Amino acid sequence: MKIVVIQGPNLNMLGVREQNVYGSMKLEDIHTQMKAYADQNKLEIEFFQSNLEGEIVDRIQECLGDADGIIINPAAYTHTSIAIRDAIAAVQIPTIEVHLSNIHQREEFRHVSLTAPVCAGQILGMGPFGYHLAMVGMKQILSEVAAMRARVQNAQAQAK
Ligand code: DQA
Repeated sequence: MKIVVIQGPNLNMLGVREQNVYGSMKLEDIHTQMKAYADQNKLEIEFFQSNLEGEIVDRIQECLGDADGIIINPAAYTHTSIAIRDAIAAVQIPTIEVHLSNIHQREEFRHVSLTAPVCAGQILGMGPFGYHLAMVGMKQILSEVAAMRARVQNAQAQAK
């Protein structure tokens, strides 16, 4: 089972940008922890960061037929991007949205997520630990999907 982690604009600056909001952990350190959890749980994982909306749309589309789950922090595009929302809806791959900060405690323009309605779930306000929670949540979703597939296969085999 493969998870693709997609990080939106300015998340490459974690550890430098607004530490009072986002903390001091660097993106690569968050990814190292996610990789360790993936290895422990025999999950394949790939990481992608872009500051460009179209590149994020392309990466989501590339998940089709390749990834079983997506963990995404669309960053500022959360609040503006119909294109990223449509891409998530198009691929129909279980997706978990993560935000380091609690977007509801912040400026009003951050209160709305255009992407959350097409995601399986949303984790926010937990800092870098939110990515770990997303991994745990995704593992659960993927095991439920695998169990459902096995039940369908069994039923099909019995119907023959
Ligand atoms: C963010 C919240 C967004 O509003 C902001 O534009 C970001 C980061 C978060 O992780 O808290 O860049 O997605």
